[in-house]
Amino acid sequence: MSKPDMKINIAGIELKNPVMTASGTFGSGKEYGEYIDLNKLGAIVVKGVSDTPWKGNDSPRIAETYGGMLNSIGLQNPGVETFIKEDLPFLEQYDTKVIVNIVGRTIEEYCEVAERLGDTNIDMVELNISCPNVKEGGVAFGTDPFMVEEVTKAVKKVAKQPLIVKLSPNVTDIVSIAKAAVNGGADALSLINTLLGMVIDIDRREPVLANIVGGLSGPAIKPVAVRMVYEVAKAVDVPIIGMGGIMDGEDAVEFILAGATGVAVGMANFINPTATIDVLSGIEDYMIKYGFNSIEEIRKGLVISDF
Ligand SMILES: Cc1cc2nc3c(=O)[nH]c(=O)nc-3n(C[C@H](O)[C@H](O)[C@H](O)COP(=O)(O)O)c2cc1C
Repeated sequence: MSKPDMKINIAGIELKNPVMTASGTFGSGKEYGEYIDLNKLGAIVVKGVSDTPWKGNDSPRIAETYGGMLNSIGLQNPGVETFIKEDLPFLEQYDTKVIVNIVGRTIEEYCEVAERLGDTNIDMVELNISCPNVKEGGVAFGTDPFMVEEVTKAVKKVAKQPLIVKLSPNVTDIVSIAKAAVNGGADALSLINTLLGMVIDIDRREPVLANIVGGLSGPAIKPVAVRMVYEVAKAVDVPIIGMGGIMDGEDAVEFILAGATGVAVGMANFINPTATIDVLSGIEDYMIKYGFNSIEEIRKGLVISDF
């Protein structure tokens, strides 16, 4: 039996399959290169990059919870120049698309990073306006439709590559945020980022995270993420990259049935370094089992019955 066609298209860029890495959970790829063949991924989405180096939040920055984990890394990164000099040449050796997640404290900072990346061969930019772990920027932009549209518009004006806007789930109405991003010129949307949470050590009577609160990821957030992808997919016409708790191919198929064109694997990489490849073969198995010839066919395959 011939292999199903797993190609997808996001904003004119063809990916060999829908499986990507979720920003911040795969470093810049080097860390995983010895476990998996990076050429097999649809795209590598690298961790958030800012204009100058950010030192991130104080430790502890990670807390385990049922079905997931909280993190409050605070977007620690060495800055865009170091990324271009040290990480990009490594990524360019591989036959996969490179998507760079960008962060900033102000609209100007986002624009500077996007502009700088415009001189490189990366394939797409992902605008992170949804990190709950930084005081300015991050989620402060992503929870207000007016600000979402403003920052998207400004970055779209200077970006040379297609622009993905990554949405925060920490809002009441995800559809109004998604529409604002599309109105601002987003070529695609990715969702969801982490859900704001808190864990308390009852013996010490202290929050576990130095930052007090952090972002929840992992299987615990999957139903919230699938619901949000479903709602957004019905409301906008741009492609969606779905993520949040994807551990295997079946989880990924749920996101595609909800309306996602691509999927990203995040926390699962920490538990199983071959998670992305397992997700890929799981999607392929599903396509063979049910006779789907393309990802687009699955995406259009959700049945909603009248009860
Ligand atoms: C340790 C860690 C760091 C993250 N860093 C980023 C980041 O730099 N930029 C970003 O947009 N999202 C970041 N995220 C969010 C993930 O990309 C993803 O949206 C979220 O974790 C949900 O997917 P998951 O449940 O599969 O992990 C981070 C998540 C984790 C766990």
